[in-house]
Amino acid sequence: MEATISRLMMKEHRRINEMLEDFEKLEVADYKQSKNAFDIFKWKLDKHFFIEEKVIFHIYNSSSEENFDIINLLKDHKDILWLISKTEESLKNNLKPSVIELKKLLAAHARTEDAIFYPKLDKELSDEERSMILERADEIIG
Ligand SMILES: [Fe+2]
Ligand SMILES: [Fe+2]
Repeated sequence: MEATISRLMMKEHRRINEMLEDFEKLEVADYKQSKNAFDIFKWKLDKHFFIEEKVIFHIYNSSSEENFDIINLLKDHKDILWLISKTEESLKNNLKPSVIELKKLLAAHARTEDAIFYPKLDKELSDEERSMILERADEIIG
């Protein structure tokens, strides 16, 4: 199967969602375990945003003039990170955080990227740009 940005990022989105669900399952158990699980989710999401912002959006931006898509996606990232900091604050105070809003926003954001943004990039970017993205993403995902 041909490697595409859509395919890679869809797999990443699924994995990130699973990690948040792992955390949710623990939420009522003990806080140390919950903090750990949330840390694992957050580290994965930080790396994911790094791939998007520093590799994909960066390369796409330099090849296209219109970047309203990116402006909106970056706004989502900021909102998601804000919800994450709220959750961390609750966990620090040993309160049971609700991640319903975070899950909703993450899902809507991933849907836009999976259904519209990444398929568009796969079509518009050159083979060279696509390979560069896939290579660098691979380095970060490890
Ligand atoms: Fe994103
Ligand atoms: Fe994403």
